[in-house]
Amino acid sequence: MAVKNDDNALKVLFVTTELAPFSKVGGLGDVAGSLPKALSQAGVDVRVVTPAWPGVLEKLEAAGVKHSTVKTKVYAAYDWRIHSAEVIKAEVNGVATYFLKAEDYTGDMYPQQLNFWTASPFAVFCMQALELKDAIGWTPDIYHCHDWTSAFLPCALAWHRHYRQTGGKSIMTLHNVAYQGVFEPYPFLDASGLEPWSFNSSTMEFYGQVNLLKGGIVAATAVSTVSPTYASEIQTYESTRELSGILYQQRGKLRGIINGLDTKFWDAAGDKTIPANFTIKDLKGKAACKKALLQRAGLDPNSDAPVIVCVSRLVEQKGFDMVFNAAGQIAETGAKLLILGSGQDWIENGLAQAAAAYPDSIKLFKGYDEPLSHLLYAGGDIFLMPSVFEPCGLSQMISMRYGTVPVVREVGGLRDTVFDVDRPEGGNGFTFLTCDVDGMMWALRRAVERYKDKEAWKKIMLEGMREDFTWDKSAGLYKEMYEDLMQ
Ligand code: ADP
Ligand code: GLC
Repeated sequence: MAVKNDDNALKVLFVTTELAPFSKVGGLGDVAGSLPKALSQAGVDVRVVTPAWPGVLEKLEAAGVKHSTVKTKVYAAYDWRIHSAEVIKAEVNGVATYFLKAEDYTGDMYPQQLNFWTASPFAVFCMQALELKDAIGWTPDIYHCHDWTSAFLPCALAWHRHYRQTGGKSIMTLHNVAYQGVFEPYPFLDASGLEPWSFNSSTMEFYGQVNLLKGGIVAATAVSTVSPTYASEIQTYESTRELSGILYQQRGKLRGIINGLDTKFWDAAGDKTIPANFTIKDLKGKAACKKALLQRAGLDPNSDAPVIVCVSRLVEQKGFDMVFNAAGQIAETGAKLLILGSGQDWIENGLAQAAAAYPDSIKLFKGYDEPLSHLLYAGGDIFLMPSVFEPCGLSQMISMRYGTVPVVREVGGLRDTVFDVDRPEGGNGFTFLTCDVDGMMWALRRAVERYKDKEAWKKIMLEGMREDFTWDKSAGLYKEMYEDLMQ
């Protein structure tokens, strides 16, 4: 059912290149797929625009979501030609959502190598998002952009020879500052329509290259990131290297707002993809999930050894080199380790070798598999997330929703959501600070030991299951930011 907004409600257009469940690489997809609904319920007139990447419209169809094609197309002048897109309108979770279908969005979602040509779909997408208002007869007060893939939009509002006349405010939300959209300036500056003075060290120039995220941060009316701790970390050289100066300089317009979850989707009590459901009051179903998970991994389904699970992109950020370097020590604890993920070859290979060396203890499921991820969250005992850095992290929150106790490094959003049980005031998981095998094993061993004390363990599980990970509070903080911007 559509959420009704009053006529005076602030109009916000979400400009995002991922939108779960139709397109998702990581947490950005989850956030874009769940925050708009919460904002809408909080009284914001929010709409969403996203590219119809390959497979997206088929998923929309399969989900039985009604959709129609808007009469007018949107156009963007870029690289000396006109790029047009069909606009497919659908109502997703009560939020008007516009999928842009065009030649520009027929390749891989994110390119391996970034250059003028592979970056083009993202610039085109932002310009088409700016053109959408005329096609749909609805003009946003604020464009809410996410990560480097929509960072061209604030740049265009500030520096494009045509769009800088159009007005409109913008917010740049940083989900991950490690990805910045950096490439050679030629022939971008000429072909993009940006004014020549948009390329200098105070704007989007970065060591002679174009840096779209830097441009977006400087040009946006306000900037937010996905946890309070990450908001302060990114102002330091240790965290964001050469970009830290700009982030420190722009700190007056920077806020940290923690992510929430779609708690109806990630719900042990109602999840239809897992073999048995369970609740805080009745945990019996969790044992059935553990059994099914062990079976799926080819291990003894009746084993009572603690099962450590990981669901992750396998990239440097996530700290999996610590995991494969500690493989022998993990196996020695007697626990089982089940990992689902895909990403960089050297990490996949390191984990595959660990699994081959300890076949009775370690199992790697290579790939991206949504239903299997649910089984891991539900069937695991411990969720391991040893991130080197973590802007927010959703997986640790999801795991707690399923009574799987997180073991995480104290960094970014992990620090804001997971609290060590051995603090005097207690907590919901196990944490460590030192980013090495010893640090991680110190926390993991404590968790494996504590697991033997069934009563103590249940108390920690319930602590996590009781946490409020809904969007309610954070949607209110976003709304406040929108209102402050309109003052
Ligand atoms: P990030 O956005 O950095 O990848 P988050 O913890 O914020 O990390 O979000 C990760 C999201 O992607 C979670 O919903 C997680 O379940 C999902 N995910 C990651 N890897 C996989 C995978 N291999 N298969 C299924 N889901 C995955
Ligand atoms: C990024 C971050 C992750 C965050 C997600 C959603 O992918 O790596 O920490 O949870 O975005 O904001």
